[in-house]
Amino acid sequence: MCGIVGIVGNNNATKILENGLEKLEYRGYDSAGIFVADEANDYLVKSRGRIADLEAKIGEDVQGNIGIGHTRWATHGEPTELNAHPHTSQSGRFVLVHNGVIENYDDLKANFLAEDTFYGETDTEIAVHLVEYFVEQGLTTKAAFQKALKEIHGSYAFGLVDKNDRETIYVAKNKSPLLIGLADGFNVVCSDAMAMLEQTNQFLEINDGEMVIVTKDAVSIEDYAGNQIAREPYTAKIDLADMEKGTYPYYMLKEIDEQPATMRRMIGEYTDENGQVVVEQDLLDSLLASDRIYIVAAGTSNNAGHASKQVIEQLTRIPVEVHLSSEFGYNMPLLSERPFFIYLTQSGETADSRQVLVKTNELGYPSLTVTNVPGSTLSREADYTMLLHAGPEIAVASTKAYTAQIAALTILSKALGEAKEIAEAQDFDLVQELGIAANGMDVMISEKAMIQEIAADYLATTRNAFYIGRAEDYYVSMEVALKLKEISYIQAEGFAAGELKHGTIALVEEGTPVMGIITDPITAPHTRGNLREVESRGAHTLVIVSEELSKSGDQIILPVVHPLLRPLVSVIPGQLIAYYATLERGLDVDKPRNLAKSVTVE
Ligand code: M6R
Repeated sequence: MCGIVGIVGNNNATKILENGLEKLEYRGYDSAGIFVADEANDYLVKSRGRIADLEAKIGEDVQGNIGIGHTRWATHGEPTELNAHPHTSQSGRFVLVHNGVIENYDDLKANFLAEDTFYGETDTEIAVHLVEYFVEQGLTTKAAFQKALKEIHGSYAFGLVDKNDRETIYVAKNKSPLLIGLADGFNVVCSDAMAMLEQTNQFLEINDGEMVIVTKDAVSIEDYAGNQIAREPYTAKIDLADMEKGTYPYYMLKEIDEQPATMRRMIGEYTDENGQVVVEQDLLDSLLASDRIYIVAAGTSNNAGHASKQVIEQLTRIPVEVHLSSEFGYNMPLLSERPFFIYLTQSGETADSRQVLVKTNELGYPSLTVTNVPGSTLSREADYTMLLHAGPEIAVASTKAYTAQIAALTILSKALGEAKEIAEAQDFDLVQELGIAANGMDVMISEKAMIQEIAADYLATTRNAFYIGRAEDYYVSMEVALKLKEISYIQAEGFAAGELKHGTIALVEEGTPVMGIITDPITAPHTRGNLREVESRGAHTLVIVSEELSKSGDQIILPVVHPLLRPLVSVIPGQLIAYYATLERGLDVDKPRNLAKSVTVE
């Protein structure tokens, strides 16, 4: 989604901004722009399309020591050059970049800016005009910015430059992520630490409702009432090398391959030298006091929640409900007496999930965020955090975060179940079983060539495709169908196999790919029966099956793992099928249309 970079006090501002924007590309965007200035000159360059398109427009003369840059994922107004950020005020004195959505932009326009001329359709243009409006009323830039912030409702991270003071960037945030980086002799601003890691690993978190004045050698944080706030920087522990593709053609393939290593790393992170699971005692106490777990998540993380329900319930005997964050906040079910909330989120920034966390915090309910990003908003705002230790996930299509989330919840369940003296938990050898699952993942990953052929055979030209399964296999079907649709644009759906005959089977025609996932001995005959039903109506069927249940003619054979960990292995062929189907169709695997990596608007 939208990304912000800024720099003050470095003569190489243009290059550093360009580099920062490149690092934000993975988040998804459709236009970009930079503003760069020195004492005498200033430049505003914007472009629709990729950062490379923007860079092609940036002339050699575009140099300065202060600047702000932006990648835009269109919300208000089409992805045109006119709507790209930075935006300027009526006179051109103020320049602003913005992430988020200003909800009352129509009212602001009508109440304060009726006489102004606007060139694009964005809510951001109204914000920068508003700052100038208050300056024209006699306020200083800082006071005008503060006043504007009090008038603006919605989500935002802002970076503002006043051309009359080319030594300062004003920033503020509400619900959208923003960090200040402290570099050697200069300072930077970014919505994602990755954008500025080459400049510094020292970052200051900014909280909602704070305004920051950033100069070359000083950072002053205030609340909107003007009270100073002291804050220590933290060290971002991200290895830049983890962000590189290396020899891989796409990040998605690299991240699929990293899954077994992530499992092994998680075992190391969450067990002691005796193989005992180590989880924060306060977190366990809080869970022990609860009578129901509510998992709230979006997209792939929601699918990981479904796939983890069984392991949590079996090992802990605590009932689990899994909910979509975008629905839960505004349609909250009747809660149990002592609910515990688990937020699953790779990025830790998903606005839909965060709005629920804000509400459950207001209601005083305990919460855990399971995330891949330390220091992310949901991590900071929940009572507890469990990290995935999966390394940066760059591809929009989430893969290693899905399996790491299931592993994290398995680890938590083992610890909790042992604390409750549940026999299933005591008998479950986590280190051994997770290790076997990691090996099983390796086996599936080594089958790339065979899976590539299957993808070409089944999915090269089809308009739609279905995955079916029961119980855990159904939840994995939902996930691999999401993978397929988001990058290959094939209309793919995951269905409960038994539900097909209640409606969906009407969609099956000659050649429709229907892929069945079969890992449970009890339901295997039923799912096989459902595959036969669609086959006799012309479907092109594929069987993805556990070795012990396989029959002659089955195409993809899954290694046997502990029943509670089957999703960790059964998801891999579907991830690879999505990857190779997308290649087959000549599409960009890592940058699917319309999608953003971190979805920071509701
Ligand atoms: O960062 P989160 O896990 O909260 O993100 C949730 C979804 O936006 C994300 O999983 C999305 O569905 C992915 N593109 C799926 O591959």
